[in-house]
Amino acid sequence: MKVTVVGAGAVGATCADNIARKELCEELVLLDIKEGIAEGKAQDMMQTAALLGFDTKIIGSTNDYTKTAGSDVVVITSGLPRKPGMTREELIGVNAGIVKGVCENILKHSPNAIIIVISNPMDTMTYLALTSTGLAKNRIIGMGGALDSSRFRYQLSQHLGCSPADLNAVVVGGHGDTTMIPLIRLATWNSAPVTKFLSEDQQKQIVADTMVGGATLTKLIGTSAWYAPGAAGAAMVEAIVRDEKKLFTCCVSLNGEYGQKDICLGVPVIIGKNGWEKILDFGLNAEEQAAFNKSADAVRNMNDVLKTL
Ligand code: LAC
Repeated sequence: MKVTVVGAGAVGATCADNIARKELCEELVLLDIKEGIAEGKAQDMMQTAALLGFDTKIIGSTNDYTKTAGSDVVVITSGLPRKPGMTREELIGVNAGIVKGVCENILKHSPNAIIIVISNPMDTMTYLALTSTGLAKNRIIGMGGALDSSRFRYQLSQHLGCSPADLNAVVVGGHGDTTMIPLIRLATWNSAPVTKFLSEDQQKQIVADTMVGGATLTKLIGTSAWYAPGAAGAAMVEAIVRDEKKLFTCCVSLNGEYGQKDICLGVPVIIGKNGWEKILDFGLNAEEQAAFNKSADAVRNMNDVLKTL
C-alpha cells in the first residue's frame, strides 16, 4: 500500500504521523509546496521509527508529484487554515485553486487513487474535487463528519462522565459552525439512548459546543486545530486500506439520498477498499430533515461561489 498526504502543515503532518504509527502502508509520501518542509517533517517522523517501532517508510517531497506515483489513497489537506474569527467559508477563493491543482497533479501519477478531502470549506472542496476530476463518486470522500462526530462524542463524554469509546454518535450535514447537525436523538451509550441520562439543557449545550468545536479551538490556539482533524483523516485511510467497512459520517456525493442531489454533504457511509461504498438511511425526523435541508442550502450557496472564480 502507498498513501500520500498533500500539505505538510499541522493537519497533514499529524495525519501522516498517525498513518505511520499505525503502519497503514509500506510507503507514505508527504508533499508540500513550501521548499523543504515536507522533507524535514518526513525525516523528523522517520527519526521516531526506532522509538515507536513502525516500519512505514516516509518520504518528503517539495511539490514533486512523481514521488507520489501509484498511491492507493491520497489525503488532501492543502490550503490556508482558519484564523481566529474566520469562518471555514471565507477560505473558498484561495483554497479552490489549490485543491483543483492538487487533484490534477495527483491523478496524473495515481489514476486509481481514492481521495480524502480535508481542506476547507470541506463540503465545497469535496464537491470541487468531484466535479473537476469527474472521478467515480465513491472515490472522493470529505473528512468533516468523521471529525465532528468524534468531537460530539468528546462533548457527550464530558457530560456523561464516560469513555468516548463507549459512545455511538454522529454528526450529519455540512462541516460548518452553523451547518452541522449533531444527531443527539440517535446517540447511544453502549446501546442506551444518551438522552435518557442528560437534561434538555445539557443536550442543547452539547449540540452547541459540538457545532463550534473547531472555532473554539481556533480561538484558543490562534489557528485551526490539527490533532483530531489529522486523526480523523488517518482513521478514514485505515478503513480504506484495511477494507474495514466502517461506518463514518463523511461528505459524499448525494443523488437523492436524504432528499438532496448535486451536492456533497455529510451522511453515514460505509468505508472500505472502494472508498465510500454505501450510504445508510438513518431515518431523520422532520426537524432533523429540515435542518439537513437548511444545511444543504448553505453548502449549495458556497458551491455556487465556485462558478464565479
Ligand atoms: C476543524 C477544521 C479542520 O474543524 O475544519 O478543526
